[in-house]
Amino acid sequence: MAKRVVAVRRMHEEHLAQLRQAFHVDYFDDLTPDNVAAFHRALGQAHGLIGGKLTITGEMLDEAVHLEAISTISVGYDNFPLEALTRRGILLCNTPNVLTETTADTAFALIMAIARRVVELAEFVKQGQWVSHIDEPQFGSDVHGKTLGMVGMGRIGAAVARRGALGFGMRVCYSNASPKPVLEAELGARRCELDELLSQSDFVCATVPLTTETHHLLGAEEFRRMKPSAIFINIARGSVVDEQALIAALQAGQLRGAGLDVFEEEPVSLDSPLLRMPSVVALPHIGSATHETRAAMAQLAVDNLTLALHGGTPANAVNG
Ligand code: DGY
Repeated sequence: MAKRVVAVRRMHEEHLAQLRQAFHVDYFDDLTPDNVAAFHRALGQAHGLIGGKLTITGEMLDEAVHLEAISTISVGYDNFPLEALTRRGILLCNTPNVLTETTADTAFALIMAIARRVVELAEFVKQGQWVSHIDEPQFGSDVHGKTLGMVGMGRIGAAVARRGALGFGMRVCYSNASPKPVLEAELGARRCELDELLSQSDFVCATVPLTTETHHLLGAEEFRRMKPSAIFINIARGSVVDEQALIAALQAGQLRGAGLDVFEEEPVSLDSPLLRMPSVVALPHIGSATHETRAAMAQLAVDNLTLALHGGTPANAVNG
C-alpha cells in the first residue's frame, strides 16, 4: 500500500502530481478552523508531511504515530522541535541553497530602500509633495564604499557580502562562529567581534539562524553601540532582535533606520510603532518569495520527501 503524505499550504499542481505518483496525498491548501479536524485525522495516518510555515507541537507528534519524515519548504527550521523529532526517529529536511541568492537580493532591496529613502520618497511623490526641487531634507546616504557588517556569515550572509563587496565596493566585516578564509580572500572581508562590528559598520545586516544562542542577540546594548547614522537590516528571524529595544533605539536616534523582513510576531501588529516610523521599511517576510525561488524550494522539498519515504537520506536532512 502506498505511503500517505499530508501536503499543506498552496502547493503547485505540478508538485502535488509528483507526490501523487508515489504516495497517497491529503492536500490542505490552507489550514482553517473548518478543516483543522480533517488535517489532524490525516496527520494521524501520514508517513510524510510537507509544506511551508508548518508548526509542529508535541501534541501533533503524539497524533502522528506513523510519521517518518517532514519536508519543510524553507531553509529555517527554528519552528520545529528538533530534539523531539530526532527522538522519535522523524527525519526533518529543509531547502537550503536554492533560496540563497533571492534572499540576499531582499537584503539589498532593504539596504537600498532605507539608504536612499525609496519608499518614503515614492510616497512623497504620490502625495503631491514634489512641488519644487528636492533638497537636503530629502537626501539619503551612499551605499557604495561604506562598511557592511554581517552578523552571521553562512550561505545567505556570504551572498549579501558578495553583493556588497563586489557590486558596491563596500568594506565587509563579519561576526561568525567560525572564520571564512575563502570569503576573506575573495572579498577582503574581515572577521571581528560583534561589538567592533556594531561600532564600525554603516550597515548592519543580520543573517544568523535563530537558536537559543542567537535569541535576542541584538538588544539595547548592541543598538547603543551602533553609529547614529547606521542602518540595521534583518532578514534572519525576528527573535534574533529584541524588538522593543530596537524600537526604543530608533526612537532615541541611536541608529538611522531599519529594514525589516522579519518580526518577533508575524504578521507584525498594526499597532507596532515600527510601522509609523518613516525610517523603517517593513516587509511581510518575503526573503525567498519569488515565483522562481518558491518553485525551486517546493521541488527540492518534494525530492527530499520522496527520497526520505523511500528509505534514503536526503542531503538536506537536518537531523539525518
Ligand atoms: C526560510 O526559508 O526560512 C525563509 O525565511 C522563508 O522565506
